[in-house]
Amino acid sequence: DMGGHDTFMHKEISEQPDAVDRVLRGRIDDRFSTVHLGGLNLDPREARTIRRIKILGCGTSYHAGLIGAGLIESMARIPADAEPASEFRYRNPVVDPDTLYIAVSQSGETYDVLAAVQELKRKGARVLGVVNVVGSAIAREADGGVYVHAGPEVCVVSTKCFTNTVTAFALLALHLGRIRDLSVTDGKRIIEGLRRLPAQIEEILKGEDEIKRLAEEYAGAQSMMFIGRVRGYPVALEASLKLKEISYIHAEAYPASELKHGPLALIEPALPTVAIVPDDDLLEKNRAALEEIKARSGRILAVAHQVQEKADHTLVVPKNEDELDPILMGIPLQLFAYHTALAMGRDIDKPRNLAKSVTVE
Ligand code: F6R
Repeated sequence: DMGGHDTFMHKEISEQPDAVDRVLRGRIDDRFSTVHLGGLNLDPREARTIRRIKILGCGTSYHAGLIGAGLIESMARIPADAEPASEFRYRNPVVDPDTLYIAVSQSGETYDVLAAVQELKRKGARVLGVVNVVGSAIAREADGGVYVHAGPEVCVVSTKCFTNTVTAFALLALHLGRIRDLSVTDGKRIIEGLRRLPAQIEEILKGEDEIKRLAEEYAGAQSMMFIGRVRGYPVALEASLKLKEISYIHAEAYPASELKHGPLALIEPALPTVAIVPDDDLLEKNRAALEEIKARSGRILAVAHQVQEKADHTLVVPKNEDELDPILMGIPLQLFAYHTALAMGRDIDKPRNLAKSVTVE
């Protein structure tokens, strides 16, 4: 049942304020400025001994893991990174007893992720799951984890699950941070930020008409470039994946700082750039990248907290705490991909060549 929407994708994008509300519900502890995650199975003493966190997933879940790694590093100060699960499996990785492994999967059934979890467990590693489908294979294999409670996702491409997974990582990062070095003040600041998310998502969704108009303008492009820096880079990766999956427009994502090391050669009026430009300590650096693109007559669509003078268009999103900005900045770009694909007459809920859950190698 699409509940009055034309596609499941549109329905699922629209459900995000409620979905995020669900991932937060019952977990916030104001007394200690932390969160409780019932199924984690990780006592504080163990949590303090973690030396490194490795996050594994595929596709959109891998991108959520990249943002998750950033959240964990910045809040819990534990070195963390994310890697596609299949790459990890096939490079015969060193499995280290002081590393906590986290498997990310909406379906909980993706074969490459499941196989990585099984291999890790066979080698004695501790593995947590960040999963949407309750009781799924990965949830069962893991030692514990966090359910993302996004509700059923029917559209082949993931939207609300991505947002909820990233929010679940923010909860995990806050939890680990408050066991380690994150102050009460910072804990409070993050909790207040988390509580603002549903209303801010609602506000972004209200801008759909403007996003639709822009998408219709860009729908003729052969190719598009997505750029971001640090927290913004995984947002660019995910927005670029979403666009190619449903519109079939070629898109690639680069860290803004890498432009001058090669891809700047591509910039010309026919290759538009979508730039993630949060109002944080990297704002000036990001503005410099916009200038480089403008100097080559590239068209720019910015997603930012204030109108960017060098951009042809800016989608303004509400500001949250710096750490939580990536959760919000991806949302207008889900709608952008959606309306681009719609303008091109694509089968949005069932893009060609793709399946909802990839249970084969
Ligand atoms: C992209 C998409 C895929 C999945 C990937 C992993 O929109 O849906 O990239 O994210 O196949 O699936 P899960 O999260 O079920 O393991």
